[in-house]
Amino acid sequence: MDIVRLSSPKPLILNGQKIAADIVAEVRNSVEHEGITPGLAVVLVGSDPASAVYVRNKSTRARECGFLSRQIDLSADVSEAELLRIIAELNADPVVHGVLVQLPLPRHIDAKRVIESIDPVKDVDGFHYANAGRLSTGAIETALVPCTPLGVMRLIKEAIGPDLSGKHAVVVGRSNIVGKPLAQLLINANCTVSIVHSRTAEPEALTRQADILIAAVGVPKLVNASWVKKGAVVIDVGINRELDAAGKATLVGDVDYGQVSPLTSAITPVPGGVGPMTIAMLLQNTLLAARRAQQGAKA
Ligand code: GUN
Repeated sequence: MDIVRLSSPKPLILNGQKIAADIVAEVRNSVEHEGITPGLAVVLVGSDPASAVYVRNKSTRARECGFLSRQIDLSADVSEAELLRIIAELNADPVVHGVLVQLPLPRHIDAKRVIESIDPVKDVDGFHYANAGRLSTGAIETALVPCTPLGVMRLIKEAIGPDLSGKHAVVVGRSNIVGKPLAQLLINANCTVSIVHSRTAEPEALTRQADILIAAVGVPKLVNASWVKKGAVVIDVGINRELDAAGKATLVGDVDYGQVSPLTSAITPVPGGVGPMTIAMLLQNTLLAARRAQQGAKA
């Protein structure tokens, strides 16, 4: 009798670059056809090189989509009072629909106070308590939702389809920017959700049950093959800078891609997975804020 070896099908590699480009094109198209000019103001405090790159990309992409794009660069020693004054000006400016202050902020500035000073209807990062509260009570249609979790949901639906009901999703990480809002979105999509964090006893015992596993902790290659159930969808939010064997700087995720990808049905690469989705969702949020402002103005 012949022995038939059944090899696992190759995983779907979720191409965030391509999906994000499609979303950006949709946003640009809406701007053209709706005769609307979304305005995005991005504030950068200090000169952290990674933050400077992120902010420049956000401003450039916004301009490419036909947005009014304003970048405000402030020195690292700007006072909190001056930053709050600038945010108050942006809150009052009718051509600005989205206000984003890049994090982290210098230690002498209270980031919570700064975030809470942004008008919730312009809080395109979705970090304000009002938006976090709306998301956590399921009032998503009136909230602005954080961009990276929105991007992750889009990638999961690309892999599984629109109906995530009954799937067990395990989120590794409990940050306010990714882990917590993502868990809320997954609950809202009728998933069973577990959150694993640094104090979880035996995280692998939980992650091995995951139909959908999301890693968002910033620990390079934390998630290895022993953490993953066969056929899982694995989303890697981590972007960690490391030196490779030749001493060259590379980006690695929170997932050990080489070990884990053969086990999965779908997986995101790093770079080129979740990363590009964040800016696409920021543009989508800013368009949404502009549409809401226009409707409010008409009402
Ligand atoms: N720093 C890292 N990620 C983000 C983000 O999504 N928004 C802001 N404002 N700062 C960040």
